[in-house]
Amino acid sequence: MGVVASAPAKVILLGEHFVVYGEPAIVLAIDKRAYAKVENRDDKRLYLRSANLNLAGYFEGGAFKAEQGDPKEARSKFEPIKLAVEKVLEKYGESVGLNIEINSTVPVAAGLGSSAAVAAAATAAVSASLSVKMSKEDILRISYEAEKIVHGAPSGIDPAISTFGGALLFQMDTGFKPLDVSVDIPLVIGDTGIQRSTRSQVEKVRSTKEKYEQIMGYVMHAAREIVLRAVDALKENDLETIGDLMNINHALLYGIGVSDESLEWLINAARKAGALGAKLTGGGGGGCMIALAQNERLQAILEAIQRAGGFPFVARKTNEGVKIEST
Ligand code: MEV
Repeated sequence: MGVVASAPAKVILLGEHFVVYGEPAIVLAIDKRAYAKVENRDDKRLYLRSANLNLAGYFEGGAFKAEQGDPKEARSKFEPIKLAVEKVLEKYGESVGLNIEINSTVPVAAGLGSSAAVAAAATAAVSASLSVKMSKEDILRISYEAEKIVHGAPSGIDPAISTFGGALLFQMDTGFKPLDVSVDIPLVIGDTGIQRSTRSQVEKVRSTKEKYEQIMGYVMHAAREIVLRAVDALKENDLETIGDLMNINHALLYGIGVSDESLEWLINAARKAGALGAKLTGGGGGGCMIALAQNERLQAILEAIQRAGGFPFVARKTNEGVKIEST
């Protein structure tokens, strides 16, 4: 019973943070998904439950009442979903009460775009529960609105990949275009287990940029060149070059202060175990790193990341963006 939609998490292969200032970035959807199940209610409440976060509560007449978990945490996690739901109802002139249950396999606040995946899945599920087929452009627009509550001034890269899936070359002013990636990109993701806020990481970069405007101009330029070179390397199925570029990109991210000790441990362990390249992914300051590996090195890299204190798993690119699972 109920309508279920899902949307994928993501890894930024190259270009995070610099993307906020208009530089290009390469992002891949991965085979970890967030699910939203929507059912109609007889009253006007919007009841939300997150199975994996053990949070529940409802919005009614502008007020929020927590039923499970820390009320502040529940409200802050549910507020963006509420906004997305309201935008969908508003668009179709509806005013109904709903139960929404979130189930997600995506680590939270880890740089993998969990909030955007949840917003895209909830938006799609609510529209399907109204028996309308929302365009992907509309799902993206609404998930981006929700993402602004979570991250302040995000580039929009997370909702774009959660909506469209696959691999995207994303740029704020020119939009994004799908990258036709035929090569397998074997990635190990290492979660440091340290949660952090993308918003504060983005603010940190902003203050560095204000202090060192000219130097940061060169850093941004280097970041752009790395991404453009990687687009060619992907066309040529040249994983070695992608690995080198990931290492150079990480050096820039380290330089601007968004890495931390927990990430450095995992990145060094992965490189020592034979990764072609390794870097932080997403906002940094904890969260996740990624290592690019030949298939035969995947196991050794997994073990090395685990020994270094991380929580590793293998991720594969998925072409499936947001989708309705069942109605
Ligand atoms: C977050 O996944 C990536 C950042 O570049 C922020 C953004 O693009 O909104 C750090």
